[in-house]
Amino acid sequence: MKNDSAPLPTLLPADAPVFLRACFRQPVEHTPIWLMRQAGRYLPDYRAVRAKADFLTMCHTPELSAEVTLQPVNLLGVDAAILFSDLLIPLEAMGATVKFPEGGPEITDAVEQASDVHKLRTPPAIETLGYTAEAVKLIVAGLPAHVPLIGFAGAPFTLASYLIEGGGSKNYQKTKAFLYQHPAEAEILFDKLVTMVADFLNMQIDAGCKAVQIFDSWAGALDPEDYERWGTRYTRRLVQAVRRPGVPVIVFAKGTGTYFDRVAASGADVLGVDWTLPLNVARTHVGPDFALQGNMDPIRLLGPFEQVRATADRILDAAGSAGHIFNLGHGLVPQTPPDHVKRLVDHVHESSAARHRAGG
Ligand code: CP3
Repeated sequence: MKNDSAPLPTLLPADAPVFLRACFRQPVEHTPIWLMRQAGRYLPDYRAVRAKADFLTMCHTPELSAEVTLQPVNLLGVDAAILFSDLLIPLEAMGATVKFPEGGPEITDAVEQASDVHKLRTPPAIETLGYTAEAVKLIVAGLPAHVPLIGFAGAPFTLASYLIEGGGSKNYQKTKAFLYQHPAEAEILFDKLVTMVADFLNMQIDAGCKAVQIFDSWAGALDPEDYERWGTRYTRRLVQAVRRPGVPVIVFAKGTGTYFDRVAASGADVLGVDWTLPLNVARTHVGPDFALQGNMDPIRLLGPFEQVRATADRILDAAGSAGHIFNLGHGLVPQTPPDHVKRLVDHVHESSAARHRAGG
């Protein structure tokens, strides 16, 4: 399919960071790699910072956020950094109370009944989330020139699910029932989320992010028609509200392999792929107009490294030559051996460099 939402083709200089060139499907000397949750509890260096500050304090404090964002860049040699924050941070600006107890996030003062959507605010991001812009500036100042910073935010459906469920969920029953029972209020809610998130992402780009990723982590809970209505439609508006020449937009909608063309219809430059959809199959669904990012199962890294290496090579084979950013199909888990992550980064660099030299 054609990416009819992309701006004029972006031609980056040959010495632009390899991650950005891959996002625009330009020639690269090796496949770039970064990993979702690359800053996190599997890293002893992260745990050392986390021992002194709780998670929300880390998200709210530019110096701490910058410190842990830079850790995996220095330790692993990844080709991009991702801002250390959390998906739920902008919900605080909208009036919700967000907490992170041991068992996962808890959101209160959110959407308990349909009329609560009217109470949610959409203040200017710079006034309420300015600490994130400060973190971006500190991170950019500390990064090597060839490593761009990725900003991020949640897609409306995934954020709405936290506001409505009050936390994580197994089947998203409350969220989906809300969409079916209160479609008018749901539209108001999704409109507000687009407004808040677009402003938040634009603030991150203004502060120095060179790419942005929109996480629709729980999109796979929707059937294809509902994804069209509550996923594609709003994600597409978000993509259009933040896109600028030279700043790729990545959409990662997990669990959507059977209707991946509807994810591509968001008009993103890069589509995140989870491990249930081989990259060569994803390519046949969307054609050459998109870069693909993915798609190793993060739990693979808990197995023997020989298997990790073989899986990485299979992924590189399936990706083909142009427009691939190596990543996982979801975030690294705390039990991951850091050594396996480092060896994966090195292996992807070496193995892909040989392929690119061979022209394949
Ligand atoms: O390295 C990075 O990827 C950047 C930082 C980042 C975090 N969360 C740090 C984090 C990013 C990009 C996120 C996004 C996020 N947060 C998503 C979308 C991606 C995904 O995983 O699908 C979602 C759904 C959340 C919500 C969230 N935050 C949950 C469900 C949890 C609890 C589960 C867990 O892993 O603990 C969090 C907490 C969280 N976010 C931690 C980190 C490092 C752990 C907090 C701690 O240190 O105790």
